[in-house]
Amino acid sequence: MTNSKHPILVFGATGRQGGSVAKALLKAGWPVRALVLDSTKAASLQLRNAGVELVQGSFEEADVIRSAMKDAYGVFSVLPANLAAEDEVRHGISIADIAAETGINHFVYSSGASVGNELTGVPRFDAKPRIEAHVRELAMTTTIIRPTIFMEMLVRPGFGLDEGRLVSLIRPEHSIQLTAVEDIGRFVAAVFADRPRFGGRTLKIASDRLTGRELEAAFSEAAGCPITYERFPDDVLAANADLAHMAKSLEDGPLAEQVDLKFMREINPDLLTFASWLAGNGRRSLDEALRASSS
Ligand SMILES: NC(=O)c1ccc[n+]([C@@H]2O[C@H](COP(=O)([O-])OP(=O)(O)OC[C@H]3O[C@@H](n4cnc5c(N)ncnc54)[C@H](OP(=O)(O)O)[C@@H]3O)[C@@H](O)[C@H]2O)c1
Repeated sequence: MTNSKHPILVFGATGRQGGSVAKALLKAGWPVRALVLDSTKAASLQLRNAGVELVQGSFEEADVIRSAMKDAYGVFSVLPANLAAEDEVRHGISIADIAAETGINHFVYSSGASVGNELTGVPRFDAKPRIEAHVRELAMTTTIIRPTIFMEMLVRPGFGLDEGRLVSLIRPEHSIQLTAVEDIGRFVAAVFADRPRFGGRTLKIASDRLTGRELEAAFSEAAGCPITYERFPDDVLAANADLAHMAKSLEDGPLAEQVDLKFMREINPDLLTFASWLAGNGRRSLDEALRASSS
């Protein structure tokens, strides 16, 4: 619990990560303020009904962001995946700069676990490391989280579940680390609750780690029918630079670095396993994916 009367400004609160963070911060007793693109849309109204203070604005509106940060204790910054690389970098830097100028006590930036120590030279892969590098230089207490691939990504329609298979990026005997979006909020709430412990740190986060064979077993159990696991064929990976980059990273790059799940559970005692996620919030998406037509 917090005794701060000052709110935390959450970006992307109508989306996955921001929504999870807003919910967990409210539960932890923080006043929550959210910058939303459209305060009349259903997801914004749901936030308002849950007690979130809404500020309508976009990443482009520096003055709105500045005034939304006034009197805030903290900021949670996340950028959508569909931005062009230069826009992601521009907005990520601008949000952090405004936070530093405003004197925010604790800034949390959500990056990605595929970020490594070296830039790749490919703008869309380098957007997050460039934002990270900028944020670290600012005179402000910052925590960078790097979530691994979301569990939610495995139950999207079109990845074979409706045909009794799961097609994904790892070799069947290799493991993948997955984050339940719900856990991101709990993790970020723990970070804001303990600035001395987490300030200045960069933390890769995950909820569970499973091999392709273990995914097969978890999906078969949840679906009540056999679901076989297979990796994307090499020619599919060769034709898709983003998938190939992720597959390589999962094999021997940053996505392969093992997250300490014991530490994750210590920070977030409610950490979800993949099986518990499938039985809970993942159930509806799983049912939809099992029903979906692949055409
Ligand atoms: N998918 C994965 O497995 C994974 C893993 C690790 C990291 N990531 C990273 O996670 C990030 C995406 O997070 P997410 O999945 O939580 O995103 P998301 O669900 O797509 O949500 C994006 C949020 O940004 C808001 N937004 C969009 N354009 C905006 C603008 N111009 N001004 C202000 N707000 C705007 C959206 O508002 P509306 O709802 O109004 O559109 C929404 O609230 C990406 O950077 C991705 O690389 C993803």
